Amino acid sequence: MTRALCPGSFDPPTLGHLDIIGCAANLFEQVTVAVVVNPAKSGLFPVAERVSLLRRALTRWTNITVDSFDGLLVDYAAHIGASAIVKGIRDAADAGYEMQMAQMNAHLAGVRTVFVPTDPAHAFVSSSLVKQVDRYGGDVSDLVPECVAEALAQRHGHRE
Ligand code: PNS
Repeated sequence: MTRALCPGSFDPPTLGHLDIIGCAANLFEQVTVAVVVNPAKSGLFPVAERVSLLRRALTRWTNITVDSFDGLLVDYAAHIGASAIVKGIRDAADAGYEMQMAQMNAHLAGVRTVFVPTDPAHAFVSSSLVKQVDRYGGDVSDLVPECVAEALAQRHGHRE
């Protein structure tokens, strides 16, 4: 059985993320989406909520599981038996940053990364821009899964 690992911060998950994860689910028999715990960053959504949002957004896929981990990506990949890491590439800036991480992961443990070009419709979408636009009242509902739009709206309710 082939298993791919789709890691990320997912704070919050966007339609760009879902597109790449869906692509991985078409290419590999099993996919694990892993929210990486970064103790240095608190994030907008707690890690457990990001996991729950991803699970809700990905219910139609029977070969995708969602988890979180704290530590080195290559250790987690070995732990779940992933044969590849799948990452999306939006532009040249992503390519440079992702290539360096991919080569470090290959150096550390021989695990290879598969790059998937982002759908041009999502090329400008990032979690940080979504948070920024949403924070100042802009509409991000067509950039994120419905459950994320609802979670952002709930946060507005708490802030107001
Ligand atoms: O969504 P992001 O923040 O761009 O994802 C980056 C992430 C979380 C995949 C990367 O920072 C990572 O792999 N972190 C785990 C710690 C680790 O293994 N670092 C070395 C990577 S070369």
